[in-house]
Amino acid sequence: MNTRLTEYFGIEHPVLLAPMAMVSGGRLAAAVTAAGGLGLIGGGYGDADWLRREFDQAGTAKVGCGFITWSLANNPELLDQTLERTPAAIMLSFGDIRPFAERIRAAGVPLIAQAQNLDHARQALDAGADIVVAQGGEAGGHGMTVRSTFTLVPDVVDLAAARSPETLVLAAGGVADGRGLAAALALGADGVVVGTRLWASAEALVSPRAQQRAVQACGDDTVRTRVYDVVRQIDWPADYTVRALRSPFLDTWHDNDDGLSAALPEALATFQKAVAAEDFDAAPVIVGEAAGLVRDVRPAADIVRDMARDAARILGRA
Ligand SMILES: Cc1cc2nc3c(=O)[nH]c(=O)nc-3n(C[C@H](O)[C@H](O)[C@H](O)COP(=O)(O)O)c2cc1C
Repeated sequence: MNTRLTEYFGIEHPVLLAPMAMVSGGRLAAAVTAAGGLGLIGGGYGDADWLRREFDQAGTAKVGCGFITWSLANNPELLDQTLERTPAAIMLSFGDIRPFAERIRAAGVPLIAQAQNLDHARQALDAGADIVVAQGGEAGGHGMTVRSTFTLVPDVVDLAAARSPETLVLAAGGVADGRGLAAALALGADGVVVGTRLWASAEALVSPRAQQRAVQACGDDTVRTRVYDVVRQIDWPADYTVRALRSPFLDTWHDNDDGLSAALPEALATFQKAVAAEDFDAAPVIVGEAAGLVRDVRPAADIVRDMARDAARILGRA
């Protein structure tokens, strides 16, 4: 299936692995690339040793890397470390990309910016992003509630067409099978960024027990929340929440940031114990509404190839 995205990266399928922090490791990124998509390592909040190891794991595979932008500002040397690995692309999400855009461009590396609303998309275009990802609120992980994939994607497609027609637009949030990919292309996107579905792959750095929780869940079981950022005392900008699977711990503290802050030493101890024990009644299962479309844990290659094959069939291009 040829789109501007497949031509841009010289790949077979218009599918990018989302750079899920500490989940999208080198093995998963390399597997997605080997299957004909493009893998992005999840640099997340930034850990130099982890990044070095995961790029080594990817071997000679063509992979990119993503960062949480506001966090990268506290650790800017990670960008230089990553650029030395000649990544296929750098993706920046959640924050002002301008302080980094020039260095990435000067290194000749494609810059991908994830946007949660039209204003973010405008800023990304102004900063010279080569690719803008329109992320709807159904997405797993961090994002915003304000917009949904189904309307944000065509909005951003039209914006890019008017202001910067050479900039590619990708859809993220809820794309988990061929239907989602076909829909994104029908909305004018050049491709998709897939998180939740590839989180439930054999190569993802995720506990199999967490994956089984997601397999048993449906889309109604997820919620956007601040609980995990408050308990971990991670200073996320106020507009962002994380979509995760509901659990007894989440239900106790959801929408009660002040109560959770007041109860912090005990709540943190409960949380840490649960993480160590892989007890997902309290440890987080970070997935999006697409959890309902995840019925099994499979090799990433099968997920990517089936998604592309089914989308091609739907779009009548088989
Ligand atoms: C477990 C998890 C971790 C994530 N971590 C990041 C991250 O570190 N940086 C980032 O840009 N996006 C992150 N995301 C969001 C993805 O980039 C993407 O927008 C999202 O997964 C797309 O929606 P989907 O989960 O429905 O496929 C994460 C998503 C998940 C599920």
